[in-house]
Amino acid sequence: MKDLDWDTPIDHAAFSSTFAVGGIPVTRTKFWKTLSADTQWQVARRTAALMLSTFLHGEQGALMTASQLVAAVPHMDGKFYASTQTLDEARHVEVFAAYVRKLDEVYPITKGLRTILDAILSADNWKMKAVGMNVVLEGLALYSFRDMRNQTEEPLLKKLLTYVARDEARHTGYGIKYLSHVVPTLDEAEKAEIEDFAFEAARQLIDQRTGNSMRGDMLRLWGEAGVDPGEAISALMKERELIQESIRERGGSMGPVHGFVVPTLASIGLYSDRIRGHFKEMWGANMGSARAELMAREDAILPKDLGEWVDEGYETL
Ligand SMILES: [Fe+2]
Ligand SMILES: [Fe+2]
Repeated sequence: MKDLDWDTPIDHAAFSSTFAVGGIPVTRTKFWKTLSADTQWQVARRTAALMLSTFLHGEQGALMTASQLVAAVPHMDGKFYASTQTLDEARHVEVFAAYVRKLDEVYPITKGLRTILDAILSADNWKMKAVGMNVVLEGLALYSFRDMRNQTEEPLLKKLLTYVARDEARHTGYGIKYLSHVVPTLDEAEKAEIEDFAFEAARQLIDQRTGNSMRGDMLRLWGEAGVDPGEAISALMKERELIQESIRERGGSMGPVHGFVVPTLASIGLYSDRIRGHFKEMWGANMGSARAELMAREDAILPKDLGEWVDEGYETL
C-alpha cells in the first residue's frame, strides 16, 4: 500500500487508449475510433470499475478462504503457507478498494463470482477448498491481473497489478506444488468429485448457459456509457481479423479458464479424459464445435515462462 503513490491522479488518456475487454483489444478497433474521447473514457472507466470491483470481491473471497485453509489443511507447512497468503490477500483487498474508489464506485459482486466463492467457502472437504482456491480462483486472478497489467499504460494501475500479480504467481506456484502431492493420494471417486467441483467453479464466469457470465453486465455498462450494445457487438464482429490476431498473440489462449485454469488442473492430475469431455462440451455450446475441438487438446500445457511470472515487470517498479 505504501509502495504506491496514491496521490497520483488516474491518467485518463493512458487508461482509455490501452484497455481490452475480455481479451478483445477493443481500443485497437476501427469501431473504438468512431467514439468520442469522452465516450471512450466513460466506457473504459465503467468497464474497468466492473472488472476491478470483481477483483476486489474476489480478493475478499480469497482472504476468507485462505484464512479457512489455515485451519482446514492437515499439513503444518500448508498451514504456514495459508497464513502468509491470508496476509497477502488482505493487502490486495486494500489496494483494489483504494483504486476503484479513485476511478468510480464499487460495483456489486457478479452472480458467477458469488456462486464460485459460496461453493469454495462452504465446501467441507479441505482438498476441494484448496483446489477451488489455489487453482481456480488464483488462476482466474493471476491470469486476469497479468492480462490487465500487460494491457494498461495507466501508471498507477500497472504498478499495483505488478505487485499483486507477483503475489498471485507465488500463490499459484505453491498450490501446484502442494496439490501435486495431494492428488496422487486420492481414490478415483474423490478425484472425480474434485474434478467436477473445479469444472463447476471454472465455468461460472464463461458458460452463458449459467446465466451468470460477465458478458451481460459488461454490455449493460456500455449502454449506460451511451454506446448501443447491439451495434457495438456487430461492429466488433466485423473486425474478426484483429481479434484472431490478438488470440494468436496470446499463444492461442482463449481467456483465463482455457489459458490457465485448465493447464493447471492438467499439471496436478485433475484433467482426466472424462472432465476434458465436460470442458469440450461447454466450449462447444458457447463457441461452436470447431473452436471447442482446438481448445480441448489433450496436452493442456502451462505457459513455459510461468516461473518468470513472479518477477515479471518487477524491475520497473
Ligand atoms: Fe489476491
Ligand atoms: Fe492470491
